[in-house]
Amino acid sequence: MARRAKITGTGMYVPERVVTNEDLAKLMDTSDEWIRQRSGIAERRHIEPGQTPSDLALAASRRALDAAGLDASDIDCIVLATLSPEADFPGTSFFLQDKLEAGDTPCFDLRAQCSGFGYALSVAKSFIEAGQFRRILLLGCEVHSTGLDFTDAGRDVAVLFGDGAGAVVLEANEDASDTSALLEIRLHAQGKFAKKLWVEAPGSGIAPARMTHELIDQGRHFPHMQGKFVFKNAVTRMPEVLIEALNATSLKLDDVDLFLFHQANLRINDYVAQQLEIPPEKCLNNIQRYGNCSAASIPILLDEAVREGQLERGQVVAMTTFGSGFSWSCAVARY
Ligand code: COA
Repeated sequence: MARRAKITGTGMYVPERVVTNEDLAKLMDTSDEWIRQRSGIAERRHIEPGQTPSDLALAASRRALDAAGLDASDIDCIVLATLSPEADFPGTSFFLQDKLEAGDTPCFDLRAQCSGFGYALSVAKSFIEAGQFRRILLLGCEVHSTGLDFTDAGRDVAVLFGDGAGAVVLEANEDASDTSALLEIRLHAQGKFAKKLWVEAPGSGIAPARMTHELIDQGRHFPHMQGKFVFKNAVTRMPEVLIEALNATSLKLDDVDLFLFHQANLRINDYVAQQLEIPPEKCLNNIQRYGNCSAASIPILLDEAVREGQLERGQVVAMTTFGSGFSWSCAVARY
């Protein structure tokens, strides 16, 4: 029996601090109505001063480990997807590994922005199927709030993003009678559009110090996005990769019990579902409460689906992402 990767535990954590659209309207020229209409978002979470990405990741990890009935010492490898590392290097995963007291367990950060969790799932699946590791802790973790421009100049981006972490434990499944497995994952990227949604500085190509006062004055250390262009690409690529991943299995759209789409914009997800004639009750969204948590969006959504009984053992879940890079992916799993 071939070794397969099975999801055995999920967990999530978002900071306590709720930031409503009205709160943001006090800082910049925006309104609750604009944000809700354009994106579906009502509120998001921001960290408290002193809280770090690895704190969020730690809380999510503990919940996922508990759900899997494991201790940190049982884990063979930690993979953490993020675009907002705690430090430029070594990233976030090493701080998490230390807080988990995980000994010398290997860990690393993976960067594929809002598709980071899809890419990380693919890496973990390969590790397990190849026999390198049996138990992997996988995270998506973002702290956006410390890197957004909360003035009028940044209003098109700042209102969209939130902080949070989601975790999944993946284990080798060699039981022939147990059908739970990551079935298929498809990954894509298009670097020619890297600058359509990016943070330019600090960057190692910028001499002499990766950052200049001028760049800061120009706000080029904040994310910049061509929103309409990103939107158009997202609504094309997400259905495309979802169908591609399903075609690679013996499953059809109707066989999927739950669709989890990246939480960038409710309008994007409604449009994709409509195009594919997916019934709304099969799509789960939480962008209304958390905004776009980039790499953390899918694992947070997955954990909520499991805990609320919307995803049960044996059911099929399709997780589709799109984000900066551009990068996009779809993972199909039998839970
Ligand atoms: N509050 C109020 N007005 C705002 C605003 C805000 N927070 N942000 C932008 N506006 C204004 C713009 O300045 C513009 O004004 P103008 O018509 O006077 O020039 C107007 O609202 C419309 O802006 P536009 O960018 O055309 O809006 P949109 O309908 O395209 O919606 C996004 C903007 C960002 C919500 C939408 O483009 C989007 O979701 N894009 C994809 C985002 C995405 O997927 N990102 C992440 C991928 S991981």
